[in-house]
Amino acid sequence: MSAPASTQETKTIQPVVIAVPKEQVTGEQRVATVPEVVQKLTKAGHVVRIEHDAGTAAYYPDALYTAAGATIVAGRHELFSGAKVVLVVQPPTVSDVDLLAEGTIVVGFMNPTRNLDAIARMRDRKITAFALELVPRITRAQSMDALSSQATAGGYVAAVLGADNCPKFLPMLTTAAGTIRPATVLILGAGVAGLMAIATAKRLGALVEAYDVRRAAGEQVRSLGAKFLELEINAEGQGGYARELTAEEKVKEQEMVSAAVARADIVITTAAIPGRKAPVLVTKKTVATMKPGAVIIDMAAESGGNCELTQAGKTVKEDGVMIIGPQNLPARVPFHSSQMYAKNLQSFLGLLITKDGTLVTEFSDEILTASLLVHAGKVAHKPTADLLNRGTP
Ligand SMILES: NC(=O)c1ccc[n+]([C@@H]2O[C@H](COP(=O)([O-])OP(=O)(O)OC[C@H]3O[C@@H](n4cnc5c(N)ncnc54)[C@H](O)[C@@H]3O)[C@@H](O)[C@H]2O)c1
Repeated sequence: MSAPASTQETKTIQPVVIAVPKEQVTGEQRVATVPEVVQKLTKAGHVVRIEHDAGTAAYYPDALYTAAGATIVAGRHELFSGAKVVLVVQPPTVSDVDLLAEGTIVVGFMNPTRNLDAIARMRDRKITAFALELVPRITRAQSMDALSSQATAGGYVAAVLGADNCPKFLPMLTTAAGTIRPATVLILGAGVAGLMAIATAKRLGALVEAYDVRRAAGEQVRSLGAKFLELEINAEGQGGYARELTAEEKVKEQEMVSAAVARADIVITTAAIPGRKAPVLVTKKTVATMKPGAVIIDMAAESGGNCELTQAGKTVKEDGVMIIGPQNLPARVPFHSSQMYAKNLQSFLGLLITKDGTLVTEFSDEILTASLLVHAGKVAHKPTADLLNRGTP
């Protein structure tokens, strides 16, 4: 029996032209899509353009993208011309925004508080921008949670960096030349990055201790085989994020944390409060109590640092202690951090592009609504709009 006529008709997919530029920020080795994801998009009928060498630093050469069905283009003009969607890791620059046609959709990290010029330009040029930082942390959005995927990469690198700079073995060793005690690693802040740092340090054989103001983190820390430092404070705020501590709570926290810092060989700090300066957890005075050769990896370096002595992008030595303030840790494992990021974007595109291949025009899905930063000449994210209204540009 033949199928009804309607099901025999092949649907013509309206190809969406998706462009992926080479990242420009110094040290940024990641790329917004990888060949595996490109293949899925081109198979679905879309056109994917990759700027020449966009994936080279992440070990995805042009040839792999071509094999996956993408077109390699030489420059930004050709890349963006006629593109409907642009996928980025770092926020677009003002000069990139100037090359985009009205209505182009840009998806990626937008770093709203530090990127007001480009946001204002996107508003003025009627570009639509979705910020991955604003994707809500609900179950359905887990596959799009780029903050988590990149924090996982960062936590891993922080632990490896700590081990690399520590003058001691991490595991316990029983050898003919004597017994070596395991190193002690302390993780401050047991969110996504902290938990990955704990898991990595455990696998390297260290004794691991961790602390977080959210008591709920204790169970996760213990399930990784690490010791959770307890303080009679619960500072879990809205949406699983930490709230700011009171002055009295801060003193108690400081005393307990300082004692743990003094006995650690490696301290990895990850404590951040979204949109604010990072809290100081390790003071200059506490650093003076640390063992010679101890290492601090401050993952909050870019937002002011959890250690008083941290300098973003630099390594400082004080009283025999090395304080490392790394920037962009996920970029140091670009192959896998790009792969995870690309999958996050692939899932996000699943909300923007319908099954019949057209771009949605109403952003009514709650994930799209929450992550919409700029659209149709307006800044949709209120805190960013307020920042823009308060000052320049
Ligand atoms: N889809 C989801 O449901 C989902 C996804 C990711 C994360 N989350 C939750 O959100 C939490 C925060 O995630 P994150 O990793 O992005 O956090 P983050 O990067 O905002 O902060 C890192 C960690 O530092 C901690 N911290 C803040 N101030 C501190 C202080 N003074 N001392 C010690 N620790 C301090 C925070 O509690 C957090 O665990 C996670 O732990 C998780 O439970 C939920």
